[in-house]
Amino acid sequence: MRSKDLVRLLWGIAIIGTLMFIGREHPSAFRAPGARFAEQDRWNVPESAKRMKNPIRATGASIRKGKSLFAEYCAMCHGDRGKGDGPMAEALQTKPGDLTDRARMNVQSDGELFWKIAKGNPPMPDFEKTLRPEEIWHLVNYIRTLAR
Ligand code: HEC
Repeated sequence: MRSKDLVRLLWGIAIIGTLMFIGREHPSAFRAPGARFAEQDRWNVPESAKRMKNPIRATGASIRKGKSLFAEYCAMCHGDRGKGDGPMAEALQTKPGDLTDRARMNVQSDGELFWKIAKGNPPMPDFEKTLRPEEIWHLVNYIRTLAR
């Protein structure tokens, strides 16, 4: 083996070694961006919460209240239209869900959405500390209008 080839071989080993190291320390660095959303389903919603009935009818008044609460408390992460593109979203490790994704939203009950908003899941805050239950139901009613 000529010394030039040996140098190339050593460089090759060094580069592969570095990539393997990065891969182990930062597994997300080599993952397809699309894999992220499915993987981040870290919610563990209890069955009893899924069965909770929404006590507030989705009237225009309720949806309007939900909309203004959303603009105040949620849009900075979820975006004005719920697409997950609010100004803070870029900085978050776990991205806000796309609340306009019909396939994802339609399989969830109102109780399930209520529970997620109330309990949060970092970096999503737990709004039971900030909002009254009826305000969270207004938010649920509003969110339902985003995924139509
Ligand atoms: C600091 C940023 C932030 C704020 C503020 C925030 N969220 Fe979230 N939200 C997130 C993130 C991040 C997720 C995804 C969490 C996960 O998948 O583990 C999420 C997930 C959700 C989900 C679940 C979506 C799904 O795919 O099942 C709902 C519903 C939701 N948020 C509603 C709200 C509402 C309503 C508000 C305002 C009252 C709000 N969020 C405020 C960051 C935020």
